[in-house]
Amino acid sequence: MAAAEPLRHRAGMVGGGVKAVRTQVAIVGAGPAGLLLAQLLYLAGIDSIIVEARSREYIENRVRAGVLEHQTVDVLNAVGAGERMAREGLLHHGIELQSGNQHKRVDFQALVGRSVTVYGQQEVVKDLVALRMASGRPLYFEVEDVAIHDYDSARPSVSFITEGRRELIECDFIAGCDGFHGVCRASVAAERYEIFERIYPFAWLGILAHAKPSSEELIYSNHERGFALLSMRSPTVSRLYLQCVPDEDLAEWPDARIWEELHLRLDRNDFHLTEGEIFQKSVAPMRSFVVEPMRFGRLFLAGDAAHIVPPTGAKGMNLAVADVQRLASALQKFYKTGEEAGLDDYSLGALQRVWKAQRFSWWMTSLLHRFPDHTPFERRRQLAELDYVMSSNAAEESLAENYVGLPLELS
Ligand code: FAD
Ligand code: DHB
Repeated sequence: MAAAEPLRHRAGMVGGGVKAVRTQVAIVGAGPAGLLLAQLLYLAGIDSIIVEARSREYIENRVRAGVLEHQTVDVLNAVGAGERMAREGLLHHGIELQSGNQHKRVDFQALVGRSVTVYGQQEVVKDLVALRMASGRPLYFEVEDVAIHDYDSARPSVSFITEGRRELIECDFIAGCDGFHGVCRASVAAERYEIFERIYPFAWLGILAHAKPSSEELIYSNHERGFALLSMRSPTVSRLYLQCVPDEDLAEWPDARIWEELHLRLDRNDFHLTEGEIFQKSVAPMRSFVVEPMRFGRLFLAGDAAHIVPPTGAKGMNLAVADVQRLASALQKFYKTGEEAGLDDYSLGALQRVWKAQRFSWWMTSLLHRFPDHTPFERRRQLAELDYVMSSNAAEESLAENYVGLPLELS
């Protein structure tokens, strides 16, 4: 992609001494969705301003997802964010499923000819922030009191406070990339949308440890005591998760207890987990959530602002990336030709992918976790399903096809 020609961006004062700036797309939130959208637009010659509630240090160190679908890798490469990922990312050609002492490798390459890359979300964020800084285009950190206005008109705007001053961004479009707890979705009247939601009766306790990963590939384990996942961030850092209760108190999980539980859920006759110093611990709740539609006038929601998946299928960040690829492509068409069809199709097109990722994430979650309300019948049925997936080529292929990422079709 070629870099853009002069960008349309100007500043002036509006009533009450509020500084006003004008841009084409105001982006709320500098997570993977907002940052990638800004870079895609920049390369297409479309100006944007990003406002972010947190500090640069905070967003660059927030530990979250780790598995990138092949097309997420492709778009990061295409926008110039792939250099460090190529050096430090870990290419994975399969995963392992485990049920008690039984285990089975699902070989993505052999089944669907694709792979995934393990590279931490905060590394993606660092790479995209660096590109934004290099572009010289605005990214405001630590803004307060963000509000969106007039998104049903042709002249929407975003107001916020930065360094004690109130500022206003006048724009053509607002991209709500501000995550699940953001202000954009919350600003829309409830009667204009429908919410689809499921809250799971468990959470994940996640750790990072200075420990050589005990396995070359991820291990997803369904154990009597609950789900466990072995993942990694580098040849010297392990990322591990344990199913726990939603309101789990981390104070009750000293390091020794975490390792003991991980050993119980992951060790096998032929496999023993390597321990190391734990340097990060957190608890993530599990939820499926979709808002429909994802567009309200000139406000477009993308990523976690519009949908949440339980993390078992590793889809959260990948969905955010797919949304903004669709949105950037529609905006590009609009600015080039004046055609609004892409913008009109955004919500429907994005939701088709979102619901397939919801289905897969729900399925992986249901397959692998202990549900407190499961009857003995449901537990037997779950184990039979896992046994089926581990012994049927057709079932493995379906898992592989979804895990590496369904094709992204942009009109
Ligand atoms: P976010 O990354 O949430 O970015 C939104 C940004 O908007 C944030 O930087 C936020 O500070 C900013 N913001 C919020 N409100 C405002 C405001 N009013 N004004 C300005 N800025 C604002 N997915 C996986 O696949 N695997 C995992 O292991 C996994 N673990 C997770 C753990 C946690 C605790 C969470 C919350 C999510 C996890 N996810 C995981 C999901 C994945 O990280 C998200 O899907 C991904 O971050 C979505 O990117 P996004 O850009 O849409 O949203
Ligand atoms: C990781 C997170 C996931 O949700 C997942 O399914 C696999 C790996 C990770 O953080 O490494």
